[in-house]
Amino acid sequence: MRTAFRLLILLFIVGLVIIQFFQPEKNIATESPNHLFNQEQVPEDVSAMLKSACLDCHSNQTNYQWYHQVAPVSWFINNHIVEGKEELNLSNWGQMEILDKIAALEDMGKEIRNGKMPITSYKLMHPKAIFSEQESQRLIEWTSSFSEQLLTGE
Ligand code: HEC
Repeated sequence: MRTAFRLLILLFIVGLVIIQFFQPEKNIATESPNHLFNQEQVPEDVSAMLKSACLDCHSNQTNYQWYHQVAPVSWFINNHIVEGKEELNLSNWGQMEILDKIAALEDMGKEIRNGKMPITSYKLMHPKAIFSEQESQRLIEWTSSFSEQLLTGE
């Protein structure tokens, strides 16, 4: 019985080592001139909030922590990045149509208001991504005033 248990542990460890060779490609492109921050005048407090809560999954640059590089965590994280970028990639802001930009800003405001973004597992590991009521409000207000600005072309 004891030997079987030891064998099981050994197999588990060997398995963990082997899966480390299967790592997803990292999301670390050099920042593009099309990035939101290079295209628009984003107030500093807003850009800081986007950086600490959204851009890891919604841009071409993820700020990886050491444990993000360990499989199977790396697979889990990569799924979020790939899916998040499919929905919204702020590194491509400059290439988006104006109506898509307006829709994106409205969606961002909605997701924050409904507490859906940033996703819960992310908040658990990134305390800086947990906003106070006031901070959320500030970010939501920015999305709506900026989309209005785009809409009226001012
Ligand atoms: C840990 C990764 C991660 C972070 C951080 C994150 N998102 Fe997302 N986001 C996703 C994923 C995955 C999806 C697609 C699945 C979904 O909608 O739940 C998504 C979808 C979205 C969508 C599209 C929703 C829809 O269905 O129309 C918007 C808008 C969005 N996120 C905004 C934000 C904003 C704003 C922040 C920061 C406050 C943020 N996200 C932070 C991963 C993330």
